[in-house]
Amino acid sequence: MPSNERLQAFEQAWLPQLNQPLAAAIAADTGDDQLAAAMQYSVLAGGKRLRPLLTVATLTTVGPTVDLGQDWRPIMALELLHTYSLIHDDLPAMDNDDLRRGEPTNHVKFGAGMATLAGDGLLTLAFQWLTATALPPLVQAKLTQALARAAGPSGMVAGQAKDIRSEHIDLPLSDLRVLHREKTGALLHYAVQAGLILAELPEAQWTPYLKFADAFGLAFQIYDDILDVVSTPSELGKATQKDAGEAKNTYPGKLGLEGANQALIATIEQGQTALATLPATVDTRLLAAFFSYFDTKRVKA
Ligand code: IPE
Ligand code: IPE
Ligand code: MG
Ligand code: MG
Ligand code: MG
Repeated sequence: MPSNERLQAFEQAWLPQLNQPLAAAIAADTGDDQLAAAMQYSVLAGGKRLRPLLTVATLTTVGPTVDLGQDWRPIMALELLHTYSLIHDDLPAMDNDDLRRGEPTNHVKFGAGMATLAGDGLLTLAFQWLTATALPPLVQAKLTQALARAAGPSGMVAGQAKDIRSEHIDLPLSDLRVLHREKTGALLHYAVQAGLILAELPEAQWTPYLKFADAFGLAFQIYDDILDVVSTPSELGKATQKDAGEAKNTYPGKLGLEGANQALIATIEQGQTALATLPATVDTRLLAAFFSYFDTKRVKA
């Protein structure tokens, strides 16, 4: 089966199970109707759900048959947290964007104050959901520690700090790589790590999976920056042609589109190489299929 079809089939099998309980679960855990509406608005607006899908794919690859049962909330916690990061990223004081997931951004709809609080609510609820089920206490503790590291001041938030501080400052490529690994790579690293923790795979066996995750994460932001140049708002559901105007540091900005695409291809290859180091008994086709998300033909050589 071609890898794009494998990824599509996997998405079709899992997305309904992941999405269906979300609206009611957010409402049930939120003590203010307008706040719940603002939180639901951005979460339910869509989104590819790539991060929780990557967790399930890792679990599927590593462990026995996956039955989410009552345990879907620890997996969707990451999607709440990711959505918070988007709401805050779009705020007037950050990237100042009007369109997200095909809809007006949260602050356009609810005002900057409520949007800030919707983000705060989603960030906090993510940790509540990590620890809301009957998973073994050690698994819950490991998930909590790992998500806090990935999302917080040593991960995504650090990258966002570098991102806004570096507008109009030309960063060396090595610094930009660190920025990308933090602002975007850290949550994708966690997406895979969560699968390893949930499967209770011994840590000595984690390295190839995490190298795969880190390559996927860096590739993801390089591709996001390429799409900002080559695609349209109706295609992406968010504004395009923004990064250059805001003098953001990006791979296309530094290397040109073709150079950025070459870096994307090289990064994907690093991820594939990492998967190839896993024992032959591990079926890596599903994880490898996630690379089909990147269309390296968007940029003509
Ligand atoms: C957008 O993430 C933000 C970045 C890290 C580049 P996604 O492209 O996964 O956005 P959604 O979740 O599908 O809306
Ligand atoms: C990633 O960077 C944002 C987060 C870490 C939330 P961007 O600012 O490029 O993401 P988009 O393009 O707005 O989705
Ligand atoms: Mg940003
Ligand atoms: Mg942005
Ligand atoms: Mg972007």
